[in-house]
Order: sequence, then C-alpha cells, then structure tokens
Amino acid sequence: MFTNFRFGIISDLHIALPETIAENSSRFHLVEVSIPALEKALEHLATQNLDFLLLPGDLTQDGEKVNHQWLAARLARLPFPVYVIPGNHDFPSVQETEKAIAPQDFPHYYRNYGYQDSQQNYYSQEILPGVQLIALNSITFDPAGKQLGCLDQQQLIWLEGVLRDSADKLVMVTIHHNVIEHFYDQTNHPLGNRYMLDNADVLLELLAKHQVKLIFSGHLHVQDIARWQDINEICTGSLVSYPHPYRVIEIAQVNQQTQVQVETFKLESVPNWTNLAETSREWMGDRSERFMLQLLTLPPLNLSTREAVKYAPHLRYFWSDVAAGDAIIDFPQFPDSVRKYFRNFSAVDERGEAISIDNNTTITL
Ligand SMILES: [Fe+2]
Ligand SMILES: [Fe+2]
Repeated sequence: MFTNFRFGIISDLHIALPETIAENSSRFHLVEVSIPALEKALEHLATQNLDFLLLPGDLTQDGEKVNHQWLAARLARLPFPVYVIPGNHDFPSVQETEKAIAPQDFPHYYRNYGYQDSQQNYYSQEILPGVQLIALNSITFDPAGKQLGCLDQQQLIWLEGVLRDSADKLVMVTIHHNVIEHFYDQTNHPLGNRYMLDNADVLLELLAKHQVKLIFSGHLHVQDIARWQDINEICTGSLVSYPHPYRVIEIAQVNQQTQVQVETFKLESVPNWTNLAETSREWMGDRSERFMLQLLTLPPLNLSTREAVKYAPHLRYFWSDVAAGDAIIDFPQFPDSVRKYFRNFSAVDERGEAISIDNNTTITL
C-alpha cells in the first residue's frame, strides 16, 4: 500500500548551453529553447505540489560535459527530488571524447538524482513508502562501439532480482527507449524501429510476469500512451520539440483500485520565442519532407518517387500532429490504401470515434 502521490515528467530536455549549439539546419528539435523551456516548465511545476520529478533521458544535446554540469547544478535548486536516466544523447560513444562524457561517468553527475548507490547506469529505489522506481539504462554499445537501444544481460538479471523483491510494492519502470509500439507497425518500420528497445519483447514478458503495469519512456518526441496486455507505457514528448509538452501524474487508490491521472501541459511561448508553438510547428514542417518521402516510398506503402513527391506536401504537418498526441489523421485526397495507412495514426476507439488517450486521461491499473 502507498499514499496518493503526484509527480512531474519532463522528457528529452536536450539541454544545450548557447556555446554548445552547432549549426545544423536539418535538426528536428529546437535546442535553442532548451534552457528557457526548462525554466518555464520548472517554474510551473514548482506550483504543482509534486513529490518528485522524473526525467526519462536525453538530458543533454550531445552528452557535453558542460551541459551535464549545468543541468546537475540546476536540479540541485529544485524544491522536490529528481530522478533521471540516460538517453542516447547523453553519452554518444563508448569512450569519452573531447566534448562528451563516457558512459561510466554518467552516474557521477547524477548522484543526487537516483544514482546515490549505483556504479551502473541503472538503479532502483523505494522513492516513497510502497513505491519502487526501477530506472533502466537502454543505452548500450556493441563490441564495435556502435550505440544500441538494448538492455544487456547483466541488467536483465539484476532486474529480475529487483522485481522479485518488489512484489508487495507499486512498481514504476522508467526507460528512454519505447517498449510498446506507439504507432502502427513501429517495430517493423525503419523510421520507427530505432526508437524501440531491441529486446522490448524480453522486457515486456518479464514485467508481465511480475505484474508491473507502468512504464514511463521518452525518445520518440511524441505524446503517446500505449498499452500491451495490462502494461501501460506513457511516452512523453520532448520539451524542445513541438508541442513542447510536460506532464503531471497523480497516482491514487480509489475504491481499492489504483488510478493514474495524467495531465499534460504545453509551452506556448518562452522569453524571446513569443510564438514558440507556431514557430516550432513550422520548424518541424520545414524539415519533414525528407522523412515523409521515406515514409511514402518505404514498405509498407512502397510508392514510386513520382507519387511520393506528389503526396509529401500534404504531410507537412503530419508529424507535428502525431507528436501532439490525440491526433485525428485523415487525408481524403489520397488513394484508399494510402489513406487507410495514415488513418492508423489516429487516436480512435474500436468504432473509429475520436478519444482523448494521450494527453489528459485516467488509467485504471
Ligand atoms: Fe530526444
Ligand atoms: Fe533519444
């Protein structure tokens, strides 16, 4: 048993001090606003009577030491505890580089934010009486040094032990990569697969076996809540890309059931970016075409380049609509098979009616 509690989630903050921002015109996310956006979200969250704040990875733009240092120092001034995990941007390579930290140095920056006792990049803590947070590290490297999104064997063995010891508690898992698909056929699509955990099926089986029902992820930069069997994965979009969301979650016992109330806030503006939401949506639209051409020409659509070029302009705001969550996607001007494919991205119930399931909703566990 636990007492009702509330916490905030800010994902994919991609903190970038101005001197660390590289000119990259194709970059999808707007790291230029990372610091003012974080300040604005934190200012609001300070009024929300939170028990803690969760940051599910991509804390920094590219693992820069100065950005990790800045963030760790900023978190020290917060009125509530903070728990972090790494994302793929937080240590881009297996070795330390001139700019970026090495994987094994990550816990040292975040000793006060979950890593008190851990020499690994993962940890577990009873963060409130009866509430066990399991904070996983999905960032691993193959023998050639290539970064993967995967849980290694050592971590899976450790996890099994933690799950066995946490049987009488409410267990919450946080991991940067997606474990449950957040859009149609994400696992099989080359554009979606890189956001999935390579061994998602192994983790899901393990969590199902131990009746764990809550996962908090990031990485995809999309507001989406997905379900597999009894497991709910709440993926929070990035604070530095449209629609600049963050969440407040309240978990309560109601009539012997555990209810998870999810509330979403979106930044409309920050200092010097008065039309942030609109500017950011256009920014994403300006950079979408290349991806939309791939989406149209790759399986399962397999359209010709000529057709793809014709349809791509209609998809200018497609990804920003998906990223905002609760999207209704329909392109009546497309041929039936193409129209049907895009409709799969809609938030609808079995009858095809619009439902609010991604931003503001209540889940009964
Ligand atoms: Fe990210
Ligand atoms: Fe990521």
